[in-house]
Amino acid sequence: MQNMAYVNGAWGDLSSASVSVEDRGFQFGDGVYELIRTYHGTIFHLQEHIRRLYKSLEKIEISINETPSQLERIVQTGVEKSGYKETKIYIQVTRGAAPRLHAFPKSVRPTLVMTFRELDKLSPKVNKGVEIISVEDIRWGWCNVKSLNLLPNLLARERAVKSGAFEAIFVRGRFVWEGTGSNLFAVFGKKVVTPPIGPYLLSGITREVVLALGKKMGLKMVEAKITLDALYRADEIFLTGTTVEVLSVLRLNKKPIGTGRSGTMTSLLQQAFQNAVSS
Ligand code: PDD
Repeated sequence: MQNMAYVNGAWGDLSSASVSVEDRGFQFGDGVYELIRTYHGTIFHLQEHIRRLYKSLEKIEISINETPSQLERIVQTGVEKSGYKETKIYIQVTRGAAPRLHAFPKSVRPTLVMTFRELDKLSPKVNKGVEIISVEDIRWGWCNVKSLNLLPNLLARERAVKSGAFEAIFVRGRFVWEGTGSNLFAVFGKKVVTPPIGPYLLSGITREVVLALGKKMGLKMVEAKITLDALYRADEIFLTGTTVEVLSVLRLNKKPIGTGRSGTMTSLLQQAFQNAVSS
């Protein structure tokens, strides 16, 4: 088993992979990415991730020569080469390496990087439920693009960690949108509510899976805006994402949510999600 990297067609060990210092990903954060994982060697919703990558690329006007099915094959090859059961796969595409000018360079090949390493499981303590804090959303207006510009997310996550929390959720005006690396759900009575897709959140693959599972189970899944005030009064809160799966939130800004323990709706959806990924 080995950590692998793919850089513009070349395979190698992750530790010796590199890109140019003139790469616009390094210079400007001029690129987009995806994080994908495997469950027991099977890639989770690969097509959906690749589709989202192309949407992000289109939005920032990068066009790559590789077709979606070629990218899928490269991902598959990387998973086989690295040999882990649970693999964490990053795909990063930048506008390429060129002398540092803001305007897009002409006829420069985009940089395509993929990395494959073993996925660290969440600790049992985290899996029992986490604390979150709210932070002002200082990100740009295209949060639906999975951009490499993660500085606001990093600053917010660091604030969460410093205050003993696991995740920070972004608040724009009165409304909460998502976490720094996860989507947000809240349970109000029988309703399971998540903020609607649009420019202020990333349309998470896990979010879509959970919405579909909930609907199939007959739960009332609702996409609607949630104010921070309302969130404090939720019966349950949970996060979704490739790394967190379905993760219960026990406290928001130090205040207990609902009973202060992981709730029944959350457990139902966690169970359904685990069934879906292990089948
Ligand atoms: N991020 N919102 C944001 C801002 C995210 O960065 C992520 C995932 C999600 C959840 O999306 P998905 O279910 O498709 O993973 C929502 C991953 C974990 C990352 O950036 O590493």
